[in-house]
Amino acid sequence: MYRSHTNGELRLANVNNEVTLAGWVQKVRDKGFMIWVDLRDRYGITQLIFDEERTPKEIMEQAKSLGREFVIQVKGTVIERQSKNKNIETGEVEILVSQLTILNKSLTPPFTIEDDTDGGEDIRMKYRYLDIRRNPVKDNLIFRHKVTMEVRKYLSEEGFIEVETPYLIKSTPEGARDFVVPSRMNEGQFYALPQSPQTFKQLLMVGGMDKYFQIVKCFRDEDLRADRQPEFTQIDCEMAFIEQEDILTIFEGLTRHLLKEINEVEVAKFPRMLYDDAMRLYGNDKPDIRFGMEFGELNEVAQHKDFKVFNSAELVVGIAVPNGASYTRKEIDKLIDWVRRPQVGALGMVYVKCNDDGTYKSSVDKFYNQDDLAKWAEKTGAKSGDLICILSGETNKVRAQLSALRMELAERLGLRNPKVFAPLWIVDFPLLELDEETGHYHAMHHPFTSPKPGQLELLDSKPGEVKANAYDLVLNGNEIGGGSIRIHDKKTQEIMLRHLGFSDEDAKAQFGFLMDAFEYGAPPHGGLAFGLDRLVSILGGQETIRDFIAFPKNNSGRDVMIDAPAPIDNEQLTELNLKLDLKTN
Ligand code: AMO
Repeated sequence: MYRSHTNGELRLANVNNEVTLAGWVQKVRDKGFMIWVDLRDRYGITQLIFDEERTPKEIMEQAKSLGREFVIQVKGTVIERQSKNKNIETGEVEILVSQLTILNKSLTPPFTIEDDTDGGEDIRMKYRYLDIRRNPVKDNLIFRHKVTMEVRKYLSEEGFIEVETPYLIKSTPEGARDFVVPSRMNEGQFYALPQSPQTFKQLLMVGGMDKYFQIVKCFRDEDLRADRQPEFTQIDCEMAFIEQEDILTIFEGLTRHLLKEINEVEVAKFPRMLYDDAMRLYGNDKPDIRFGMEFGELNEVAQHKDFKVFNSAELVVGIAVPNGASYTRKEIDKLIDWVRRPQVGALGMVYVKCNDDGTYKSSVDKFYNQDDLAKWAEKTGAKSGDLICILSGETNKVRAQLSALRMELAERLGLRNPKVFAPLWIVDFPLLELDEETGHYHAMHHPFTSPKPGQLELLDSKPGEVKANAYDLVLNGNEIGGGSIRIHDKKTQEIMLRHLGFSDEDAKAQFGFLMDAFEYGAPPHGGLAFGLDRLVSILGGQETIRDFIAFPKNNSGRDVMIDAPAPIDNEQLTELNLKLDLKTN
């Protein structure tokens, strides 16, 4: 038996017990005649004591040779501590060691294994196994496990069956590029790793599985951000014989269950917001509604004066910054610089200070009088003491810019409290989205999403206006899930693919298997997928999903610990029928 107890377990009640512990040396304090060692494992830290009077000499010597992160096993007696440490649960006792075995030595770790480590991001990623020994990372992984268990429990109790679907498949278009895997046995052919199990879960519905879920890896070759990894995990779900309302009810229930069990937070019924309203009021389809600062559109009250910038803009829109009127000129200039950064891309910003005495002072006083500015204040909901920030330009762009400013200001003002949870559904997404670069429409969610009843006819005349049976679940400004009611008949699916620019041959080659299945009694069905990494990190009060993934990739999609991706040798390339010679190319 390696250990009788863990290092988080012993209390005063165990005094005089003979115990065996094992773990890593966190810290050694050597006073010569007395040595204390903090022994750590996943469960906590227990203090070991060696002293000249009570510990045999050879064990004293052994204890002196211990270094940080050595793996040891000790036998000894639990004794009450002289000076107690109230900060740890085992802080009232220590172990008087009678036997010490060094199970493995350790090199000095490249960073301190402490909650506040001296190691930077890169070095911690390279030695991720050491980082996992630190409480913040370890606790996040345990937290993720708890969430996952609750998800499985809830969905199983609701009658969902977890079914695994394959990873070596064909392209599943979710808007990113595919990771591909060459096939050795099929010359010149490739599998694609799933961007999601979308088509398979639909086939499971045709197969009569009725209520499916899967906690599943998905792979997307796309630009990475704090909330995106090239491989990530979905809680993927699908149901048959349901309507949108059924899906929203079940998954609102799941989210509420998690908030209650994991965060001990009770949330009222989730608000629902139309996509169009979200864009109008927050400039964003994943609004953070923990705070106000809603957009006020000002075209009506700001155009047709002499200010050319506004007159020529498609949209003039502002937000009220609480108590912002006290900002100095310098602070406002900094905000203007912030919106002009290339990442945001605004050309400039107009501002109005709403003074305490009810007057207004703006950067465009030359063009607008007090009555005009009062109307702006009314439209943006600004009160005395607030600052109104106004941007103008092309609607989509200006909304994105003001949305970025709103989130930045909320962050600075401490309005994004991670302990407050404000979930909401965004519904009635457009079916199609115009790709500005190519001028083509593509599916906003994915090509299997059904249009709202009666809207199919609009596809030809007003493609951009067709609404879909699609919904997203948003939590604290993050899209944590999305789904739709699917097309379940071949004809509609063909029409849809045609509108997305697929020739009939291409459609058949890529999705023929699905459309064939639709001809054998496909039930009406729909579903959604949560991003598990995002969900877990937000429930955990953070927004960087990397911190909740055991072995994440860095921003260039590399695993710096195992050094992947890496070249493969010519022999392997030949075997895979890849005639490419990377060394000479
Ligand atoms: P969607 O593409 O919206 O839908 O993905 C569902 C959820 O997965 C999360 N997500 C990601 N998380 C981390 N890294 C990424 N690169 C990443 N990409 C997406 C998001 C997102 O809301 N098959 C459909 C679902 C359906 O229609 O049922 C799908 O995959 O939280």
